[in-house]
Amino acid sequence: MKKVMLAILVLVIASAFVSQQTKPQPGGLKAAMTRGKTVYETVCLACHQVDGLGVQNMNPPLAKTKWVLGDKKALIKIVLKGLQGGEIEIDGDKFHNPMPPQESTLSDQEIADVLTYIRNSFGNKASLVAVGEVKAMRAKLK
Ligand code: HEC
Repeated sequence: MKKVMLAILVLVIASAFVSQQTKPQPGGLKAAMTRGKTVYETVCLACHQVDGLGVQNMNPPLAKTKWVLGDKKALIKIVLKGLQGGEIEIDGDKFHNPMPPQESTLSDQEIADVLTYIRNSFGNKASLVAVGEVKAMRAKLK
């Protein structure tokens, strides 16, 4: 009997571990949104603003842009490495502030959370960003 209990216990722990590993975000979308909001308010809000609409000629909006809603790899790269030189153009507007790189200030989890947050805020609706996707991009850019 003891052996059976032990076997069940091992199975339960193992399956919990496996589901944790394969889930795109710990705690699902809701938890990721809460964590991502905190990162956004601490790091991004000063430039991109509380409504995600940015500041004309300085910082671009994050609402329904092709970078926020498009290819996740390109989006992750923007946050890791930053941008400057007015590479972004939205409705004829260019932005003259630099976007600071976050590779040494934010963890993979924090970047996954903040990108999940901006992809599902300001009228946006797009898939979650998983920590593994950020990890892979960070390794590739080394
Ligand atoms: C110091 C101001 C500043 C901060 C802080 C900042 N950004 Fe930016 N961001 C910019 C500017 C300026 C650009 C455009 C740069 C260019 O065109 O060269 C940009 C571009 C972007 C873009 C691509 C263009 C778009 O609007 O879709 C995304 C996505 C983005 N930032 C997300 C973030 C996120 C997420 C954070 C927080 C982790 C953040 N930014 C923090 C200023 C900032």
